[in-house]
Amino acid sequence: MPTIEKDFRRSVVYQIYVKSFCDSNGDGLGDLPGITSKLDYLAHLGVDYLWLTPFYPSPQKDNGYDVSDYCAVDPRYGTMDDFDELVAAARERGIGIMLDMVLCHTSTEHEWFRRACSGEKRYQAYYILRDGRGSAGPGDPGEPPTNWECAFGGSAWEWEPRLGKWYLHMHDASQPDLDWTNPEVREACADVVRFWRERGVTGFRFDVINLISKPEVIEDVPGPGAACRSLVADGPHVHEYLRELVERSGIDGMITVGEMASTDLANCIRYTRPDDHELSMSFSFHHLKVDYAGGDKWALAEPDIPALREVLREWQEGMQAGGGWNALFWDNHDQPRAVTRFGGREGVGERGGSWDLVGKMLSTMSFLMKGTPYVFEGDELGMTNAGYDSIEKYDDVESKNAYSMLLGRGATQDEALRVVGERSRDNGRTPMQWTAGPGAGFTTGKPWLGVPANHEQVNAEAEVGVEGSMFEWYRSLIALRHTSDVVALGDVRFLDAGPAAPRVIAFERTLGEKRLVVACSFDDEPCELADLGADGMTVLLSNYDDDPIAGVLRPYEAVAWSR
Ligand code: NOJ
Repeated sequence: MPTIEKDFRRSVVYQIYVKSFCDSNGDGLGDLPGITSKLDYLAHLGVDYLWLTPFYPSPQKDNGYDVSDYCAVDPRYGTMDDFDELVAAARERGIGIMLDMVLCHTSTEHEWFRRACSGEKRYQAYYILRDGRGSAGPGDPGEPPTNWECAFGGSAWEWEPRLGKWYLHMHDASQPDLDWTNPEVREACADVVRFWRERGVTGFRFDVINLISKPEVIEDVPGPGAACRSLVADGPHVHEYLRELVERSGIDGMITVGEMASTDLANCIRYTRPDDHELSMSFSFHHLKVDYAGGDKWALAEPDIPALREVLREWQEGMQAGGGWNALFWDNHDQPRAVTRFGGREGVGERGGSWDLVGKMLSTMSFLMKGTPYVFEGDELGMTNAGYDSIEKYDDVESKNAYSMLLGRGATQDEALRVVGERSRDNGRTPMQWTAGPGAGFTTGKPWLGVPANHEQVNAEAEVGVEGSMFEWYRSLIALRHTSDVVALGDVRFLDAGPAAPRVIAFERTLGEKRLVVACSFDDEPCELADLGADGMTVLLSNYDDDPIAGVLRPYEAVAWSR
């Protein structure tokens, strides 16, 4: 099967949250034929690859990241024929398909877990099972084996009476972790990747892949409890397992990206250095924690822009020095929308309003830094947070758990709702805003998750082909990524924007004689800019309609100068 061969450094990936992209049959859920029907839109936008979030059979406890069959299509999203048609129709347009591989855990409904529960020792060895602490003997659970906490709140262990054991789940209790020390598990995972590669898939995104290698000894950590992600991240055999997976499944050289939870720079260099034959690039998340008060996702703080600058500098310059490669992004299905998060709540739908400026400023940064940019569906329209007014409107397991946890900590319902409103993953999962009409043109039925009210102004119909729109801005950034060597390949170095510009992030890209200087303001006030050495250079991009003012950046202004 011919594959799509592109240089990932010159490519742009578009993430599709399948459930929310386009519903072809009016059941309120997005589906594969819906994606096929929008390929012309995506080709017009100019993206190179589509990363599809999981559409495999699943009880949907974690919206498909709880997979019960890795090698099939959930009927709610279509059929295998629909999938083949999508791959072929995308290929005709020069677009590759990247699939989401959720190989750190299965669903409790997966055949492997069910067979483990019905007593098959072979499948019991696929999972991480332990006796309870203080158990009086068989049948007595005792207490969870360690004080580890899962990512969605509560213990990372669940008692399973049919096994007479506790199993480890780093996410929801319906997502038991696989035991990658078992060679049969590793081979079975490679089989899954091979299966999809042979069906014409051109790349892969690996879900929480740096959590597959657990510590040699699983034991309590000091304190009342600890988030197990940080204990498990980048474990002892993770690089070896990844290399083996890539080799066995025959995907070396394809575009691949690993989602790396609680990771560090040194490991991400190793994950992505070409000579190590692991992955093309990695997602890290430190830059999206700069508004967590005290590191707590559920405690609100204003984004700390100097901290953001420092994280980005460290990862941009550090990955470059180590020969690694970053995936560049602000949004995905686990994050609130960046245009809301970094400002721009005012003037939604208004050309030149702060929403519009912020969306263009953020995308300028992600497209002009070094790495491969990812567009999350709706970014190119400037979609914002959901703005739901009651907890009943949320769907996400993590958001609901967080709401209860906040009430338990003494927050009022209004306070808890406000925090969830800012932080919920559902902010990124609302239906794609195609039109101003009912259901935002996403569905003719009842959308599975509520459509934000601003779809009347912020939608594809209102933006495609309209000069100055967010969509057209993204289209030109994507084109620039394809045509400019300095953007795709140039070196990166962060610049000092000076003491009067604490909320400005500036950097340069250089390649031979070519130089780009980029300055982006996160400030809602004008600020004075230090000399960035851009005098005499040409303005390549600016998110304001009129010319930049020398030595000043206006609110949320982004300017790129080139030579
Ligand atoms: C990361 C995925 O992006 C997220 O949506 C999911 O809940 C966890 N991994 C667990 O699979």
